[in-house]
Amino acid sequence: MARKNHMIGNWKMNQSQADIKNFMETFPTEKFSCETWIAPQFVHIPMLQDLGAAKGINVGAQNCAANEKGAFTGETSPATLKDLGVNFTLIGHSERRAIYGETDSLINTKTKLALSQGLTVVFCCGETLEEREANNTKDVVGSQILNGLKDIDANDLKNVIIAYEPVWAIGTGKTASPEQAEDVHGFIRSLASEKLNFAADDLVILYGGSVKPANVEELLNQANIDGGLVGGASLTGESFGALCKAASSN
Ligand code: PGA
Repeated sequence: MARKNHMIGNWKMNQSQADIKNFMETFPTEKFSCETWIAPQFVHIPMLQDLGAAKGINVGAQNCAANEKGAFTGETSPATLKDLGVNFTLIGHSERRAIYGETDSLINTKTKLALSQGLTVVFCCGETLEEREANNTKDVVGSQILNGLKDIDANDLKNVIIAYEPVWAIGTGKTASPEQAEDVHGFIRSLASEKLNFAADDLVILYGGSVKPANVEELLNQANIDGGLVGGASLTGESFGALCKAASSN
């Protein structure tokens, strides 16, 4: 079992060009042993690729289209991302599901297309507060995973990372406790092995939802947490640097 920790910044619809330059000036120069990935807004991908290469930052996308090419105004295809030298994309983030109405079926289509273009997919899932309080966390997360990753063969699944992000913890400052997160991560790993024919020991499972330097260690200490998908705390070089440092020493 050789899972490598991943620290992935999801910049969402944030950061100006000046902010990105400032980020790079304050991000540590030391090379981290964890995978250090950032998903900026599409238009900033080339800029961050240029500035981030020397610091080992792998630049990806926050979303991609469900179609290969053609009359889909405003969309960006996996092939276009690949052409830009991008090699990963987030898919199914809870903001895409809640604000843009993305369904498991659309997410499944996008995932298959992105994988067919050779992109790694960071597949996001997670329950709302109501679903957790009704004791439905595992049903919800399980069905998002089984439907979203339906009919994908074992070979392609090697290029999938799962990010468990409880919706109630995203951007709220409320983090799942390490025990709550570990409980769901352990469930995801057994589900992957039993139902998806995944090489489950190799599956990277990230936690997301108010990860910050102050709580990252206790999360990373859990057996089934292999890093973080981080919004707010990934926006400054100091803070994201501290998270990458923790993920490199854990
Ligand atoms: P947050 O966002 O770290 O700001 O909670 C995480 C995410 O939405 O990926």
